[in-house]
Amino acid sequence: MAKKLIGKVAVVTASTDGIGYAIAEKLAQEGAKVVVSSRKQKNVDAAVEKLKSQNLDIVGVVCHVGKPEDRDRLVTTAVERYGGIDIFVSNAAVNPHFGPLLDCPESAWDKIFDINVKTTFLLCKAIVPHMQKRGGGSIILVSSTGGYEPSAVLGPYSVSKTAVLGLKKALANQLSSMNIRVNCLAPGLIKTRFSEAIWQDPNTLKSVTQNIKLGRIGEPRECGGIVAFLASDEASFITDETIVVSGGSYSRL
Ligand SMILES: NC(=O)c1ccc[n+]([C@@H]2O[C@H](COP(=O)([O-])OP(=O)(O)OC[C@H]3O[C@@H](n4cnc5c(N)ncnc54)[C@H](OP(=O)(O)O)[C@@H]3O)[C@@H](O)[C@H]2O)c1
Repeated sequence: MAKKLIGKVAVVTASTDGIGYAIAEKLAQEGAKVVVSSRKQKNVDAAVEKLKSQNLDIVGVVCHVGKPEDRDRLVTTAVERYGGIDIFVSNAAVNPHFGPLLDCPESAWDKIFDINVKTTFLLCKAIVPHMQKRGGGSIILVSSTGGYEPSAVLGPYSVSKTAVLGLKKALANQLSSMNIRVNCLAPGLIKTRFSEAIWQDPNTLKSVTQNIKLGRIGEPRECGGIVAFLASDEASFITDETIVVSGGSYSRL
């Protein structure tokens, strides 16, 4: 089958592990040149080595999305190494607060909204001019099914993911005239370090999977192909859309 993303350059945040890594791997397998990134040099090095061992065209850079100098380096690396940016996947997110919503300290609320929402906006602001130079592009923001149904225990995090859905809509409205499409991926429960508190405890896992039609949690690789599709010309008439990858757990009608 022909590769979907030959000639494209992709930047993926938080892509040395979990869903971000699976997305970076799939984009590169589809022919894109991919900039992988995360906070720790050793994680970047390990991810680059693993991906390069598959003969994929990859460059790695340290980028804590909350640090302005790191965001600059991420964008500059893509432009200097690969000549521009066509695809941006905003995947980084944090959740420093589990528990009742109103128990969330202000500092945790600020961190959640800074990393999950504000840095997504700031990176889009920095990357869009480069997409304009290429005549268009595709932005994919990683939200969550929690964004559709904010919960008491994951309150601030899930509200931040609702905000990401709103950001997607506002960006899609502004960027359509520039031939830049903006879509969201909304994963349900996916087996990563981020969610290990849920899947490592057999009782919690059992109760959670009861609400998943496919009867199991997802794997990171089950997110990669959807993002590659949204980034590709196969999705050329899709913007301001969200694709839910949740095994049929509750999201929306
Ligand atoms: N897993 C789920 O069930 C689930 C469900 C719905 C939505 N999501 C969303 O999917 C996305 C990815 O989640 P995941 O489960 O794959 O998480 P994960 O496994 O915890 O991802 C960890 C990755 O993020 C990097 N990272 C962490 N903080 C970062 C920061 N501030 N800046 C840059 N990189 C950072 C880590 O590397 P370093 O340690 O080197 O920084 C690592 O590469 C998030 O937006 C999350 O909200 C996940």
